[in-house]
Amino acid sequence: MPKKTPVILDEVNTQWRIARRPTGNNVQRQDFSLHEENIPACGDGQVLLRTLYLNLAPVMRMYMMGVGAAREKPLGIGDVIHGRGVAEVVESHHPDYRVGDIVQGQLGWQTYKTSAMTAAELMRKIPDRGVSYGLSLGPLGMTGFSAYFGFIDRGSPKKGDTVVVSAAAGGVGSIVIQIAKIYGCRVIGIAGGPEKCNRITQWCDDTIDYRNENVPARLEHLLPNGFDIYFDNVGGDTLDACMDNMNAGARIVLCGSISEYTTDEPYGLKNYARLRSANASMLGFFVYNHEQEFAQAEEDLATWILSGELTALVDVVEGFEAMPEGLARLYSHKNIGPAYCRVQGDCYDLE
Ligand SMILES: NC(=O)c1ccc[n+]([C@@H]2O[C@H](COP(=O)([O-])OP(=O)(O)OC[C@H]3O[C@@H](n4cnc5c(N)ncnc54)[C@H](OP(=O)(O)O)[C@@H]3O)[C@@H](O)[C@H]2O)c1
Repeated sequence: MPKKTPVILDEVNTQWRIARRPTGNNVQRQDFSLHEENIPACGDGQVLLRTLYLNLAPVMRMYMMGVGAAREKPLGIGDVIHGRGVAEVVESHHPDYRVGDIVQGQLGWQTYKTSAMTAAELMRKIPDRGVSYGLSLGPLGMTGFSAYFGFIDRGSPKKGDTVVVSAAAGGVGSIVIQIAKIYGCRVIGIAGGPEKCNRITQWCDDTIDYRNENVPARLEHLLPNGFDIYFDNVGGDTLDACMDNMNAGARIVLCGSISEYTTDEPYGLKNYARLRSANASMLGFFVYNHEQEFAQAEEDLATWILSGELTALVDVVEGFEAMPEGLARLYSHKNIGPAYCRVQGDCYDLE
């Protein structure tokens, strides 16, 4: 294991807070305000965490709009934005945690946090696997778990199945296409632009560039017998087009609907009645409902990464100051693979 450099604490805790509700189809720098305050005191039964990495996910714009999630309370103007991250324990008054332990959990957009490490905070120790701890915000964390449970549990893949994945070069999508290949499926990835389609071509039998090609026509051409699984990350007209091409018994996995996150009204599906004639099903899932199985998913995903079967594609922005820009990258279609910010990095990044 590479040598760790000693931690020198900063003088302040720096935070990104909500300055105003985002409008339009992205986020802007003026939607955020940078705030400094004292590093919180670490009390009995608590640990002081120093942020190493912070996740960047489409749901964060929804948090900024005041929308809560099952785990996260709705936020007001002036609140620190919710966000999962990876952190190092730099002070501990907790019997189960030592200085130097690495954990992942809900940190918020800030550089320090104290935590009592309760189950409700869903903090988990990260084992040292000899790879960047940042991967715990990508293939070895919620993004990987979403791909794993969504595809395997909801999609019920079988060898030889034909699988269509939207936002296939994004965080969850780029992992789903690779797991589908591990399962021996035929994979069609839908992504925006030639660069993204080229990047994922090694895991896809065919790609559809939805920005430059006619998606319904390409689906019809590539799917004379329909698909068995459609893993939906985007909703909207792509979901509608896919529903025209279901095989008998097809499964549609509803993971996300990013094309509808910035619209006033949800998209109205026109083709849902086809589920009947195809004897098909639409199955939603929420990754946190699989909490009891996270350890198994982490083990399987790590095994695939270490064996070279799964490539850890990641899209890393550098420095805490870049968090707003990092979130905007998702809505301006720039990321390839799971996105996160390297706030301080870890010993593997310093190799
Ligand atoms: N159910 C769950 O428990 C769960 C858990 C995690 C994530 N999710 C959802 O899963 C989806 C994928 O999440 P992720 O974190 O991996 O994000 P992601 O796919 O990396 O999201 C960013 C990508 O989405 C695409 N995109 C952005 N705006 C779009 C639009 N208006 N229409 C169509 N595509 C658009 C872009 O790819 P292109 O350039 O290819 O358009 C962009 O690079 C999201 O909808 C997220 O909310 C659900």
